[in-house]
Amino acid sequence: MSNHEHEKHAQGHAHPHTNDAELAQTLNLDARILGSYLTEATAWAASLAAKEPETMIDVGAGSGVGTVALAQQFPHAAVTALDKSAQMLTMTRAAAAENGVGARVRGIQTDLDEAWPSEITADLLWASSSLHEVADPYRVLTDMFAALNPGGLLLVLEMDGLPSFLPETLPAGSPLAPGLEPRLHEILAGMGWNHFPDWQPVLASVGFTVQRRPFPTVGSSTPELAARYARHFLARIHQTLADTASPTGAYSPTDAASSADMASLELLLGDGPESLERRGDLQVRGHRTGWAARKP
Ligand SMILES: C[S@@+](CC[C@H](N)C(=O)[O-])C[C@H]1O[C@@H](n2cnc3c(N)ncnc32)[C@H](O)[C@@H]1O
Repeated sequence: MSNHEHEKHAQGHAHPHTNDAELAQTLNLDARILGSYLTEATAWAASLAAKEPETMIDVGAGSGVGTVALAQQFPHAAVTALDKSAQMLTMTRAAAAENGVGARVRGIQTDLDEAWPSEITADLLWASSSLHEVADPYRVLTDMFAALNPGGLLLVLEMDGLPSFLPETLPAGSPLAPGLEPRLHEILAGMGWNHFPDWQPVLASVGFTVQRRPFPTVGSSTPELAARYARHFLARIHQTLADTASPTGAYSPTDAASSADMASLELLLGDGPESLERRGDLQVRGHRTGWAARKP
């Protein structure tokens, strides 16, 4: 992929309006429910690392779920959390302290769209659900390659399917539109939500040797926790789709989602018998892809 295509790719993103506190809640719920990928991916990094990493960087750390998982997997290493958001870094430091790894974690506020922070190097880099947010991933990855010590490893992770909550087949007589979630995911994918390329070619073009691995996850959670996560996630989807609708609020055929799909979302987000909290048939499913990239 050319630089130009990377720029185009980055500009095409549609992200729902959300603030850092809301995003952090979703990230924390995701980690509590679908977080087995964190243990699996950090163990994958441990199995691939040429030597035990002493220094690690969590690129776009968010609320710190990866920072904590890295510190737990590598109990002698220091982790630097990078994020453009001071609020996210405060949450990362709090999460590190709560998990007993605070002494090995520091945060650096930096906007990677401007520049890689000078003189920050590491044996292991981790970029989970963050590379697709930067304006020019090729430039950022070039800087990351330079920041990695020789023989070091970069782990890139992306959610390659949006989380699903509803059973694949709804019970007979359900007032929800059949096929609701796959259809919503398709609409959001078309809007560029969470869109990312296959990182393999760009990682290779920067100089890495790359392998990839899927991380399918069926969530372990209580019905209450599943409903909380579903509410966060589906409310963000509802808001995103409502923002694209005509100002009258009547969903016309040219709007992204049909009125039947929006009505179904509203039943799930309401407080009636179909509500997320009352239905009891939620099962959280997620899917991520990981790329392990080694600097020769
Ligand atoms: C979707 S969150 C993922 C957080 C975390 N890595 C995880 O997996 O839970 C993306 C994070 O990247 C950060 N981010 C996005 N663009 C950035 C940039 N240009 N510079 C630094 N951080 C950025 C955001 O502030 C946010 O915290």
